Amino acid sequence: MLVLGIESSCDETGLALYCSERGLLAHNIYSQVKLHKAFGGVVPELASRDHARKLLPLLGELFASAGVDQRELTGIAYTAGPGLMGALLVGASFAKSLAWTLGIPAVGVHHMEGHLLAPMLEAQPPAFPFVALLVSGGHTQLVAVEGVGRYQTLGESVDDAAGEAFDKTAKLLDLDYPGGPNLAALAERGDSRRFVFPRPMTDRPGLDFSFSGLKTFARNLIAAERGEQPLPSPQTMADIAAGFELAVAETLAIKCRRALAQVAMERLVIAGGVSANATLRRVLGAALEKIGGQLYCARHEFCTDNGAMIAYAGWRRLAAGGASAEQLAVEVRPRWPLDELPPINESA
Ligand code: KG4
Ligand code: ZN
Repeated sequence: MLVLGIESSCDETGLALYCSERGLLAHNIYSQVKLHKAFGGVVPELASRDHARKLLPLLGELFASAGVDQRELTGIAYTAGPGLMGALLVGASFAKSLAWTLGIPAVGVHHMEGHLLAPMLEAQPPAFPFVALLVSGGHTQLVAVEGVGRYQTLGESVDDAAGEAFDKTAKLLDLDYPGGPNLAALAERGDSRRFVFPRPMTDRPGLDFSFSGLKTFARNLIAAERGEQPLPSPQTMADIAAGFELAVAETLAIKCRRALAQVAMERLVIAGGVSANATLRRVLGAALEKIGGQLYCARHEFCTDNGAMIAYAGWRRLAAGGASAEQLAVEVRPRWPLDELPPINESA
């Protein structure tokens, strides 16, 4: 099978070609960061329009770089949710129209399933079952994964997602959107032991998270440290960033170890934008080494939003008979709980 993947749920337009025999043939991504920067966050209407502008040129480039003709496609996968309604609709209508002209099926993919399966694109993919830590801009979830579509949520954030906490704290530190990577870069110059942030909800049983208090803790620190100035010194800002980052990483690590023990598994997959964070990877790696567990993650460019993960997840679902060329309705789901996905037959 040759599957085209299309990601357009937020501020990245990502396309990819996945071949069942040869693996990933090509992928490209266009980031709207410059477009949204002046607004300090994603403006949904601008995002939709930019996806509409970029999809066709990216598609042309993708086929040219893979040396493939679009008539060779056997299926199309697009992100059907969760995400921004308009942005999703642009990708979905594009995918459905192209599939219709080619007489092939188009399957709607759950964005978080895409993230969750992205480490399968690496040279040493994780085997089922495993625990997945999904950490993105909108989600923080621990999931027991028995197979594709066989997901049981073990815990999730009761307020801000991990990425959201990074982005909001970055704003307090006067950093540009996208906050997560910028905060991580600032934290590299900081001393993570100077300010000790709380490790929220680790002092009680359970696998839920709460990150909004860390942002408040950072706000109070900044107010206390700045004196008469608008902001604390650059070194203090870096120390606050480092303290915050370590608190997020250690809190996630404590809950991951707990989740692995609860379901008696030793493989941990981390996915989503925040899984690109170097401190998180280091802290989780050390935590798993202590218990003889293994950590799996996608390469950096496949941690954040991309078309490759959608092509891959779509291939798994199409191979199991997840869509037919007769289904023409354009359907998207801005809100879509992961556990509502149907399981697929693993032998497919
Ligand atoms: O998965 P993703 O690209 O989009 C969503 O599905 O939300 O995740 C984006 C989130 C943003 O909150 C971004 O700030 C965060 O991931 N992020 C990071 C890093 N790279 C991206 N957070 C911390 N450290 C990073 N290196
Ligand atoms: Zn994402």
